Formats: sequence, C-alpha cells, structure tokens
Amino acid sequence: MRRTLAFGAFLLFVQLTFGQSISSPSGRLSLTFFLSPQGIPYYTLRFKGKEVILPSRLGLELKDQPSFLENFTVIRTDTASADETWEPVWGEVRKIRNSYRELRLTLQQRLEQPRTLVLTFRLYDDGLGFRYEFPQQPHLTYFILSDERTEFALTANHTAFWIPGDFDTNEYVYNKTPLSDIDALSAGKSAGEIFTRNPIGKRAVQTPLLMKTTEGLFLVLFEAALVDYPAMCLTLSEREYTFTSTLAPDAVGNKAYLQTPTRTPWRVILVSDRAIEIASSKTILNLNEPCRLNDVSWIKPQKYVGIWWEMHVGRASWSYADTNSVRLTDTDWRQLKPNGRHGATTERTKQYIDFAARHGFDAVLIEGWNVGWEDWFGKWKEEVFDFVTPYPDFDLDAVQKYAAKKGIELIMHHETASAVTNYERRIDEAFRFMKRYGYKTVKTGYVGRIIPRGEWHDGQWMINHYLRVVEKAAQHRILVNSHESVRPTGLHRTYPNWIAAEAARGNEFNAWSRGNPPEHETILPFTRLLGGPMDYTPGIFQIKLDYYHPEKKEQVHTTLAKQLALYVTLYSPLQMAADLPENYERFLDAFQFIKDVAVDWEDSRYLEAEPGDYLTVARKAKGRNEEWFIGAITDENARLITVRLDFLQPERTYTATLYLDAPDAHWEKNPMAYRIEQYLVNYQTALKLSLAPGGGAAVSIRPATAIEEKRLRTY
Ligand code: NOJ
Ligand code: CA
Repeated sequence: MRRTLAFGAFLLFVQLTFGQSISSPSGRLSLTFFLSPQGIPYYTLRFKGKEVILPSRLGLELKDQPSFLENFTVIRTDTASADETWEPVWGEVRKIRNSYRELRLTLQQRLEQPRTLVLTFRLYDDGLGFRYEFPQQPHLTYFILSDERTEFALTANHTAFWIPGDFDTNEYVYNKTPLSDIDALSAGKSAGEIFTRNPIGKRAVQTPLLMKTTEGLFLVLFEAALVDYPAMCLTLSEREYTFTSTLAPDAVGNKAYLQTPTRTPWRVILVSDRAIEIASSKTILNLNEPCRLNDVSWIKPQKYVGIWWEMHVGRASWSYADTNSVRLTDTDWRQLKPNGRHGATTERTKQYIDFAARHGFDAVLIEGWNVGWEDWFGKWKEEVFDFVTPYPDFDLDAVQKYAAKKGIELIMHHETASAVTNYERRIDEAFRFMKRYGYKTVKTGYVGRIIPRGEWHDGQWMINHYLRVVEKAAQHRILVNSHESVRPTGLHRTYPNWIAAEAARGNEFNAWSRGNPPEHETILPFTRLLGGPMDYTPGIFQIKLDYYHPEKKEQVHTTLAKQLALYVTLYSPLQMAADLPENYERFLDAFQFIKDVAVDWEDSRYLEAEPGDYLTVARKAKGRNEEWFIGAITDENARLITVRLDFLQPERTYTATLYLDAPDAHWEKNPMAYRIEQYLVNYQTALKLSLAPGGGAAVSIRPATAIEEKRLRTY
C-alpha cells in the first residue's frame, strides 16, 4: 500500500468573504468554496472548466439552538492529498486506487457562544465528496438536527432517471424525464404493487439520482458511508433546478440525534462525460472507512439456489396453514391443519441440497421454515416471528446433517415483517441458533411498516439498526443479505460481511406485478448499484408465468439469454440462480453458464453503455486461470453490438461459448428462444452479437484445450 499525505495548514485572519479552490488529481474537476458577505458557505464544481454545480448553499438547522446556516468565518484551512491502493475482500476488481485532493475548512460562527463546524471536501477525478463535521467544543455537545440544507444547484433542465422520494421503499420503476417534469407524487401513488410506500412530495426524488445534460455529461447525486444519520432524498426547490437534501424524520419530526464529536455521511457528486466511468467509479467505496473486521478469511462470495421463486409464482406457500390469525406464544403449530402447499419442507430442502451439490453451488436459501407466516403480512403486529421455531414439517437437524454431508452451506431467512423491536429482542438467540444449526448466511427482510411505530426504513433509528445487525453478525461470523433495508452507501468496504442487499426493485416484481420494464437493469448500474451489490435474483428461465397457472398473466420482461447476461452486468458477490431446479433441468445447456460464471473478480471492464438503453461488461474471474465472462443487455430495442476481446492475453487461444438470443427471440413474443455457439477466439477477435428486443448475450471465455483447438472453428 502506497500512501502519501501532504498537509499544509495555515491560519487566516478573520474576514468577511473568503474563497478557496482545489483541483482533482488530474485537474479535470475543480471545486471552489466561498463565504458570502453574510458568512453563508457556498460551493461550486467545474468539470473540464465548465460549471456543473452552480453556487450552492451548505448548512444545517438545529432544534432549539441557533442554526448552522450563516455568520461563519473561516479560521483555518487545511489541504491534503492521498494516493493509495487497497484490496477489497471481494469485489469487481482486485485492487482499488484511492486518489484525491482534500480541502478542510474550519468555520467559526459569530455567536455570543461561538461554535465550530468543519467542512471537508475530497475531490476525485470522477467526483466530489463532502461532509459536515462537528468537533468537540464548549458550546455544542448534544444536539438535534431538525434539517439539513445542502443544495445541489444544477446548470439546466437535465434529463433525470428518478424514483419517487420515499423513506420506506426503493422498489419503484425508474422514470426518465426532464427535471422540470418530475412528478413523484403521481408516480408514487400509482405504484400499487409496493405495499409500504410513502412518497414524500411532488418534487422529491431518491438518491442515487442519475442525470444527463444536453452536452452528454453524466451527473449522479448520492451519499457515502451512511452511519448514525437518516438517508438522503432530494427535493427540487422553487429556485430552478436546485435540489435540497431531504432527510427521513422520526415520529416527532426530528432528523437526527447527535453528540460531538461527530460527522454526517459524505454528500457525493459523480461527474463524467462517459457513462461507463460512472458505473465503474470507486469513489463511493473510497469515501468509506477501511475494513473493520480483523479476520475476514471466513467471508466468501457465493452462488446459491433456494426455496423462494416457487412461493413468488404461487406454487408453494411460506405458511404451513391457511389461517389468518395465529399468536406466536400460544399457538400449537402441530395442531394447525397443513395447507398442503408449504414450500420449506425437509424433503423439498433436501431436493435443493441435492441439486446445489450436483451443479456446484455453494448454498441453499430456505424461506418459510419458521412459524409465523400465517398472518405475517400487513398486520403491523409486534410478535410475528421468533426465528427459532421451525414448522412441524421442517427438521433442522436432518437438514443440517444432509447439507453437511453434501458440502452445501445454508442460508437462513429472517423476515422481520419490520417488527424491528421484536427482532432486536431476539437477535442474539437467533444468531446463536443459526450457528448451532450450521447456517453461515442470513437473509433479513423488512417488509411492512416499521415498529417502533413512527419510524421509517430510512430514518436514523433504522440506519443504526441495520448496522447493529451487521456488526453483531460479524461477531458470529455470519454474512448478511438484507432486503427492504436502506440502499447501500459503500459500507461493505468497512463491513465486508454485509455481502449484499436488495433495496431496489428486484426480479421478484416480475412474478406478481406489472414487473420491471426491459430497461430497468440497464439503469441499476448507474444508480442503486453505485452503493453496493444487489441480491437481484436473476436466472429465471421459465419466463412466462402462465406455465404455473393458466390465469397467471405475468412474465419476466426479458429473454432467457438476458437472464444469463445479468450475472455479469449486475455485480454481486452473492448471486442466486432463482428459478426452480426442474426448470433448469429442462435447459441444462443454458444453465451451464450460471454454473460457470464467477462471483468474485480480478478485473471488470465496462465496455459500452447508455443508461436506460444498453450495457456491456467484461469481467475476469478472480483466482482462476484466465477466465473471462461477458454480459451484454439491451432495453426493449434490438441491438447489434461489437465486443473486442483485446483484453485477452496475446499469443493465446481461448474457447468462447456464446449464449445468444435466437434470431426470432423477443422478450414478449418469444422470450425463451436461445442458441449456444462455440468458437476459438483470441485478443484480436471482435464478436458481433445480436440482442433481441428485451434481450441480451452472455459469453464465457477460457483457454482452449488441445482437443478444442482441433475441433472448433475460429470466430
Ligand atoms: C420480500 C423479499 O424481497 C423476498 O425476497 C422475500 O421472499 C419476501 N419478502 C418474503 O420475505
Ligand atoms: Ca423486496
């Protein structure tokens, strides 16, 4: 690890106005900070000499105390820079470069009892991070934040990819409109398939917010290292094209309870004239703290299957009985009349374990194993699940022994139904129980309205809860995959056992709602995935769901080949093969790609992309001999793409297996039509791949064997 830090500190005389600029390491971005004559802090940002953020205010409001909005003077300026490389425990690349210039301004407020606020700016070549810091000081110790007033003043009416601002859910379909056309209330209200949704207001949107200017510049507004603070949404204010930070309140309207010394998460603006640079940006990760866990040897990326999709398509149930009212403490579960459709039986679990072992998967997820599912949904009830009592037809001992014999890990499901106080009371016991029965990973879930009532999924209390769970899990050597939790902000650098999260609209919506339009997965890498990996659950082969029931009109908005490509385009160290084993058995040749694809990467190359339209990514598997995987996806439009294999080693011959849309494939009319071709390729090959409407292509590449060199055609 290389690290160079150069500090220069100097005291400034008290003055009425103040200005200071820094540039990013290559000089591409420049930041200017200044104080207005009223002592109001402002910043601006330029990309290649052109303004991208106009003068924007910084400040905070405190409850029952003077605000942190004005009357500041700068009493100290520090600059620093860093250029280091670090290795993530798992990730898209083996090594990450962290190179920035820093400006730290210590501001003092002219009050009878003066207070100090520090603003730290870190400027990277692809973006800016800044945060408020509240040092220890005589006249500020405990304080309540009533609001944050950070502005992001944009230069014009950019095109935005937005979802409604909402402190309870991120599971919306993206809208693409000019800023002036944002109407989050009507978009939010019509999203009937999201059970717990509370759109904040007409002009409120979520972060990460992606925008594109008419000159082709991409901008993302987001945050990094969200700790002990509510998540940030943005509201477009009356002043044209200016967003202001909007934070989740608690039950009495306060935003955060803080104690000095402390600091806010980083506010982040990513800027680039190339979409692929946005998707491969490491700035969010770099702004997070290094790994806090001493021993990470037990943390391993995994591919899994599970008792899951069959419930979402209505073939099985999470619950054991069909009753609408049970009480956790005094129900005799053996007396309930089984409904005959319960998914998580010992026998079914063993089938999954067999399937996982036969096809080289790491783990099996079992949902609906524990009592309480009869009335879990939408009741806002305190004691829903206890996380330790299995249904009568699920034998934990037998499952543990069987999995161990077959070398398969188990993933336990903890749906909390958002009865979070209940979960916190039981979590120590639940984690001990998991370890006793050989479970290494927990999938948590937060469906429904939060208890404590009045809290939001994205409020400070819940933000602290998610991290408490992750820290506790680390003590037990448990990996966490959280669903319906706050969207990630790069904290997996610090806590690599937080292996994935959902926190966006996943594949499951295709099972029971109007679903995800074909462009959805071309937007995620520029928005939600910037914060961290998503458990999207790709790999659905039986795409039309009338297969399960003639009345069932839903379908996944995809071709089969596109489902394969998603394993490469949607990065995650935790990937599910989400369809039923019997569906994979019908298409074992296509299934081979899911078996082969890696989940941890030496290198990743975003080759071409246009958010909302298409994306092509190539990745080199970590710890394997020269294996590359390519994923290319398109929206509802067909596309012909060229992929140059110039990342391969020269003087070497490889075998490429192409999983392609058939010529007549179409996400709606003919989604399961695919073909598989195999060729010899080398670093000079340019693959021409034809993607169907709503389609994709997946390619696996590895050094050719001697037999293949004789037998296969060169591309
Ligand atoms: C929503 C989760 O996203 C899904 O994966 C899970 O199966 C259901 N909740 C039930 O917990
Ligand atoms: Ca969900």
